[in-house]
Amino acid sequence: MPSLRPDGSRKSKNGDAVATRTRQLEAFTQAPENLLTTNQGVALPDNHNSLKAGLRGPSLLEDFILREKLTHFDHERIPERVVHARGAAAHGYFELAKPLVEYTRADFLQEVGSRTPVFVRFSTVVGSRGSADTVRDVRGFAVKFYTREGNYDLVGNNIPVFFIQDAMKFPDLVHAIKPEPHHDMPQASAAHDTFWDFVSLMPESTHMLMWVMSDRAIPRSYRMMEGFGVHTFRFINARGASHFVKFHWKPKLGKHALAWDEAQKIAGKDPDFHRRDLWEAIERGDFPEWELGLQIISEEKADKLGFDLLDATKLVPEEVVPVTVVGRLVLNRNPDNFFAETEQVAFHPGHVVPGIDFTNDPLLQGRLFSYTDTQLSRLGGPNFHELPINRGVCPFHNFQRDGMHRMLINKGRVAYEPNSLANGSEYRVDGGEQGFQSLAEAMESPKIRRRSPSFDDHFSQATLFWNSQSQAEKEHIIAAFQFELSRVETPAIRQRMVDTLAHVDVRLARKVAEPLGVGPPDAKAAAGRAGFREPRGKAPLESAPSLSMEAAGGGIQTRKIAVVLGAGAELGAYKVIQQALLDAGATTKVVAAHLGFVASSSGQQVPVDHTFLNMPSVMFDAVLVPGGAAAAQALLQDGEAVHFVLEAYKHCKPLCMIGESIELLRSVGVGMPEGPAVPGLVIGSNEPTTRLQLAQDFIAAIARHRHWTRSVEKVPA
Ligand code: HEM
Repeated sequence: MPSLRPDGSRKSKNGDAVATRTRQLEAFTQAPENLLTTNQGVALPDNHNSLKAGLRGPSLLEDFILREKLTHFDHERIPERVVHARGAAAHGYFELAKPLVEYTRADFLQEVGSRTPVFVRFSTVVGSRGSADTVRDVRGFAVKFYTREGNYDLVGNNIPVFFIQDAMKFPDLVHAIKPEPHHDMPQASAAHDTFWDFVSLMPESTHMLMWVMSDRAIPRSYRMMEGFGVHTFRFINARGASHFVKFHWKPKLGKHALAWDEAQKIAGKDPDFHRRDLWEAIERGDFPEWELGLQIISEEKADKLGFDLLDATKLVPEEVVPVTVVGRLVLNRNPDNFFAETEQVAFHPGHVVPGIDFTNDPLLQGRLFSYTDTQLSRLGGPNFHELPINRGVCPFHNFQRDGMHRMLINKGRVAYEPNSLANGSEYRVDGGEQGFQSLAEAMESPKIRRRSPSFDDHFSQATLFWNSQSQAEKEHIIAAFQFELSRVETPAIRQRMVDTLAHVDVRLARKVAEPLGVGPPDAKAAAGRAGFREPRGKAPLESAPSLSMEAAGGGIQTRKIAVVLGAGAELGAYKVIQQALLDAGATTKVVAAHLGFVASSSGQQVPVDHTFLNMPSVMFDAVLVPGGAAAAQALLQDGEAVHFVLEAYKHCKPLCMIGESIELLRSVGVGMPEGPAVPGLVIGSNEPTTRLQLAQDFIAAIARHRHWTRSVEKVPA
């Protein structure tokens, strides 16, 4: 570990920083042992009985063993996070691929190949700690880099913009979206009056609403979503020159979503869906990976963007400023203890290192206050930086002292600066070139509590987002608005919202309004409301393909394929396809009516992994049904089996139906011989010469993830 030098620098060899960090944490871990003691180390004689006055007498106050055990238990809970309470995290590293010396002096961004240990926490925003993972919500994407120059936290989200422009509105936003205060409902959902009341009165939220109503808010996996720093930050190089920077995380597995109906069902079937997915992938050795991408923007270029970079409701389209990949993030170790690590980790956008600086974004500026403040009550005092998960890999030293749960034993009589008594000579830290240097940005303005007119355009980027979506994505957005607003009991709120949407796109507003029992969208009424700003900027382009998830990419690695098996199935084609799926990195599981074994047409006993009831179709990415007349008949007689296949079909998942198994879909009029080809539905036979082609077609269908253009309205499931 590098030591502090008098000038504050820590330029020593990086060595294996990840191993150093792991060893540092290991010093605090404890394996199970067969000896029980009190917290003072006294061995327990009996962990089943309290000390009593006689065999049937009252317990004695003297029983320090019972008292200690109960007292500790009584205080096991800490407050959950005010927002982002539900999360899951993992350890890993960041590896630099491109030196950034030209732009930043940040030590961890200088040397190609250097690895910086990280701890990453993903979260939902609205729900409480025990809520479901797959609700419609923004996802937090918080990365703590343990660098040699101190901890750097990139505390971002999976959506590149935000609901509000100024931190002053954050408590209002959160109060509006959280469960309503009189009855504490609904849990982890925006689909209620107070949220839509608030946002329908806040035109600045419109762009973010478009993202939250899109499939971005129901990701398939934490491993398959993008991350964004959201705010504009600054890079400062060794000469003190500044560039604006926007941070992006690009998932190696592509960006993918669930179907909305599926997300709701998973919330009941497996509320831990996302945390389980992350945990299991890491345990299997399928380490999740993202590229770090940067948009670096000069001051001159910033002036020509046509919107204000300090406004967190705006993004910089990749088509305008390309994203340069500079490194990769790999998560390769699950935490040892959820509470000690995932719960006690304390992120803070204000944790920066030399070479990275803030901008005057008024949302970011408020965050710089809020995180330490909230962690004081969540973690119980000012010393949470001493918790193992929050410690840096470099030493820290200052004259802050004492406080709840202080662990460090500071030696000596000096706890002040300047001093001459600590090391026998005069010591003063009073300006100079060392340490963190804030950008010397010129400031000469009157104090003012007003919004900058450069933040006034609330709609052009919402329209850009809408125009950039595929037809299927647009339909999902419309359906999401309709669902959420249909849950709003107050008609005036529903009306206000569709009026506002008319400023994004009139057709969108009309479609959303259709089932809501409101009048036609009235753009003029919206424009007449307080908070509405007239100026509408011109988006730098008509549509930006990077904003769509249509070309999601990512292959089929780690995809879960269900093999639906009925007694008497013919296994020939299935075996070939299964091997091809495994070779391409997917996993297959046999699902049947009961556990144990299912006999194939040749009498082979095939082991069953799951039943239709304990592992429903929503837990899988695709479905394969082997052929055989007897198997098809057996499955057709089983309502759960038919539902399994139809539900996967309804959620637009790839299906491979071999031989007679197609009858399961034909029972509802799908996949008829004379009918048109159905997107993502691969139909084949057991004929040996066609098996490889069948496998390739199925793999190609899975790689597209979902076939949203499939017509599913008439399919019951
Ligand atoms: C003024 C605006 C905001 C305020 C006051 C605020 C406040 C908070 C608070 C109090 C927490 C809980 C922290 C803890 O207990 O450890 C939190 C967590 C979080 N916030 Fe914000 N937030 C704001 C805006 C944002 C924005 C714009 C983003 C995205 C760029 C964001 C991303 C996160 C994330 C990812 C977490 C979870 C960190 C973790 O995993 O522990 N917040 N925020």
